[in-house]
Amino acid sequence: MNVLVLGGTLFLGRHLVRELLERGHRVSIFTRGRTVASEAPVTRYTGDRDGDLHAVPRDGWDAVIDTSAHWPSWVAASCAHLARAKRYLYVSSISVYDSRGPEIGDGRCAFTEMPANAREGDMDAYGAYKLRSEDVVRAVFGPERTIVLRPGLIVGPHDPTDRFTYWVERGSAGGDILAPGAPEDDVQFVDARDVARFAVRLLEDERTGTYDVTGRPRTTTIGDVLRACTSGAEAEVVWVDGEWLEARGFEGWQDMPLWIAPSLELHGFMNVRIDRALEDGLTLRPLTETVEATRTWLREEPIDRDRVAGISRERETDLLRLYRP
Ligand SMILES: NC(=O)c1ccc[n+]([C@@H]2O[C@H](COP(=O)([O-])OP(=O)(O)OC[C@H]3O[C@@H](n4cnc5c(N)ncnc54)[C@H](OP(=O)(O)O)[C@@H]3O)[C@@H](O)[C@H]2O)c1
Repeated sequence: MNVLVLGGTLFLGRHLVRELLERGHRVSIFTRGRTVASEAPVTRYTGDRDGDLHAVPRDGWDAVIDTSAHWPSWVAASCAHLARAKRYLYVSSISVYDSRGPEIGDGRCAFTEMPANAREGDMDAYGAYKLRSEDVVRAVFGPERTIVLRPGLIVGPHDPTDRFTYWVERGSAGGDILAPGAPEDDVQFVDARDVARFAVRLLEDERTGTYDVTGRPRTTTIGDVLRACTSGAEAEVVWVDGEWLEARGFEGWQDMPLWIAPSLELHGFMNVRIDRALEDGLTLRPLTETVEATRTWLREEPIDRDRVAGISRERETDLLRLYRP
């Protein structure tokens, strides 16, 4: 296949490019040229999705993979420009769902609503705009040429969000580790390499439709993650009550990765059904493989890189002192 990736140099897109190349496909990428990944043998087109697509050829694409758009106007522009492509795969998100239900995905729940006065660029309306973006793709490419993936939390090497990496890094360092909630609490996420492999497989198998893509529901706990992340380290994990954390201002997700404050009642985020994806070829690697690959990648990263999720060691020490004086 001759594939154009709109994106391709940060995280999921990077794994997609690698997977496509390994499977023998021809790959082009379109970015602003700011984020530079490895020297993969790809054709590079430069421009901005916000109004400047002219560098990209309109014809000749067996598939377009769109990883870099949250906003319907961007998707509308790229769909119009590339309307003659054979297929368009849009990477959406499980944030399109209203996650307050006990379980989401595979048509089991309502969608999130567009907040009043929202504007493109407003991350509070991310899920609602992703949903509208999906509709734009379907309107242009029709059901027979559209694939929509709705990933849950994506993790693994090159993750710029630290929302899983935090635990890998913290676990490896050892010592007394503050862990949120209870070890038996369910968590759900997916290795970026599994999403990439599945996306390429869907294109190769000429499938279409909408897929929720994350780990198997109710099979992995936060205790499993901490166990995998502390393996080989001298560590004591201290489980800290969720309500206690909430009373100290924690909401989860960003300030305490893989955990969501109980009062937010976003249970659906950690219980997504993925039956359709499993039926059509999604395969999921073991947790230990994801932890190991993330650890290996981290060793090559600068030690003083900016951490964008989790808490500092100082804050952790202070909290533990308060929790068990
Ligand atoms: N991370 C998660 O847990 C998660 C969960 C669910 C869904 N998702 C979705 O998954 C997708 C994955 O994103 P990713 O960052 O991993 O993809 P990626 O393809 O690796 O990186 C994003 C790319 O977009 C380019 N880009 C950004 N703004 C641009 C613009 N205005 N014009 C042209 N190119 C632009 C960036 O390069 P330049 O900077 O050089 O332009 C970069 O190559 C996103 O759509 C996200 O919403 C993520």
